[in-house]
Amino acid sequence: MLPKRRRARAGSPHSTIAFSAPPKALFPSVAIYLAEPRMGRSRRAFLTRLARSKGFRILDAYSSEVTHVVMEQTSAKEAICWRESMDARLPSCPQPALLDISWFTESMAAGQPVPEEVRHRLEVAEPRKESPSSVTMPAYACQRPTPLTHHNTLLTEALETLAEAAGFESNEGRLLSFYRAASVLKSLSCPVISLSQLQGLPHFGEHSSRVVQELLEHGTCEEVEQVRCSERHQTMKLFTQVFGVGVKTANRWYQEGLRTLDELREQPQRLTQQQKAGLQYSQDLSTPVGRADAEALQQLIEAAVRQIMPGATVTLTGGFRRGKLQGHDVDFLITHPEEGQEVGLLPRLMGYLQSQGLVLYHQYHRSHLADSAHLLRQNSTMDAFERSFCILSLPQPIQAALEGARHPCPTPKRAVRVDLVVTPNSQFPFALLGWTGSQVSLCKSCVPWWAWAWGGPAQLRAVVLSLSPQLFERELRRFSRQEKGLWLNSHGLFDPERKTFFHATSEEDIFRLLGLKYLPPEQRNA
Ligand code: CTP
Ligand code: MN
Ligand code: MN
Repeated sequence: MLPKRRRARAGSPHSTIAFSAPPKALFPSVAIYLAEPRMGRSRRAFLTRLARSKGFRILDAYSSEVTHVVMEQTSAKEAICWRESMDARLPSCPQPALLDISWFTESMAAGQPVPEEVRHRLEVAEPRKESPSSVTMPAYACQRPTPLTHHNTLLTEALETLAEAAGFESNEGRLLSFYRAASVLKSLSCPVISLSQLQGLPHFGEHSSRVVQELLEHGTCEEVEQVRCSERHQTMKLFTQVFGVGVKTANRWYQEGLRTLDELREQPQRLTQQQKAGLQYSQDLSTPVGRADAEALQQLIEAAVRQIMPGATVTLTGGFRRGKLQGHDVDFLITHPEEGQEVGLLPRLMGYLQSQGLVLYHQYHRSHLADSAHLLRQNSTMDAFERSFCILSLPQPIQAALEGARHPCPTPKRAVRVDLVVTPNSQFPFALLGWTGSQVSLCKSCVPWWAWAWGGPAQLRAVVLSLSPQLFERELRRFSRQEKGLWLNSHGLFDPERKTFFHATSEEDIFRLLGLKYLPPEQRNA
């Protein structure tokens, strides 16, 4: 009987297995490669010795000589993905048979290779669809679809933890490296089960690869676990999740020895109005908003907008537009088909919402559209639209507010973060693209990005700018600039040579202008 698969022992991740010298092969036409991912090193070493002792030819490395690949506990889909990643490295390699371990054990018992039957084969379940070249991954996130749910959550969460930790240390380079590597894994059409699958992928440096290797071998990564458990990380997360608290402030509080929200509440003189509101409603605000509530809220805002400016439109944007089922807030873009009509809309809307008793806190920022310098800034934190960052008090479920008259008894309420942004119609497609994101989860919590342009200290501004990687957006802007020589932001697309703005009436137009294949919002979860 073969021993049960054993986990590779912790502490020896990089040790190499010493294989016994191959004896004379009795079956020269059969060259077996034992694929390690689900098998584990020690079991693979054992099976290798066993097979060689019976005269089978086992190859230590995957090469064009391999005729039979044997895998254990591996689905057909995973097996095909694995072979594709190998084919990408050895394009001229003839395709070996992908076989389940049952073929191997039966062959060992028979003392010779048994015929490969359908039940042994791993590839029958799913025919090959993709050619090897389609597994090559473009470098910019805006060049590839990134769905909301993907196949590598364990790996991406680990890499994102390290990115977040780098953000807490204001290390932008490191933050971006980890986020970009995680984003690449989100775009893969299959789970990574072997380190070799990382070969040829963009943005996989030594560190990210090492993290993946450790996760594949042990199921956890020590560095990531240490970060997650550290008091520093947990406190920084807690503080930066408060509305109005950025990395710099959280860091200062941490250095001063503060550790809990209650300790912050005890020092009201040190808090901004926004932070006070953030702490006051912290419990509600840390509870995710559901999709149904976001949609009901849209109806509520639409009804309010109809009252004050018939014809204006309200578009749900941010994470919900990308298909997320939950969000830390709800984002809306408001515009009017007639350019100029939107001016002054937001103060009136806020007044209306206040008169309905819905506003717990709001911070209004007037439009800076008249300042043309704003329009050319490429950083996504720098848009100049009129906006309001609110905390609204909403009945639970929000739908109840819409049916108010039919529900005379009071409904429970909760505080919800809502962003309202007003754009002129001509800039709407750019604003929509910008506000749809994706936003890397770190920035919403750690960056008080609404504080950037309106008088924040220069140092704070530098931190804010460096830590606002709405990854899809950021990549799109980087692509525009580096590959096309064009400047893109939430206001427009600018050709710096000709000094002209491009006209676009839809997001599709913008992708077209950039020579990119259109990606719908659900595929922008980079
Ligand atoms: N955004 C922006 N300028 C900023 C901040 C944010 O254009 N200064 C855009 C980002 O592209 C982001 C969108 O606004 O995608 C919404 O931001 P946010 O609500 O923080 O992130 P979401 O992606 O909606 O995530 P969540 O669901 O957690 O709210
Ligand atoms: Mn949002
Ligand atoms: Mn938002």
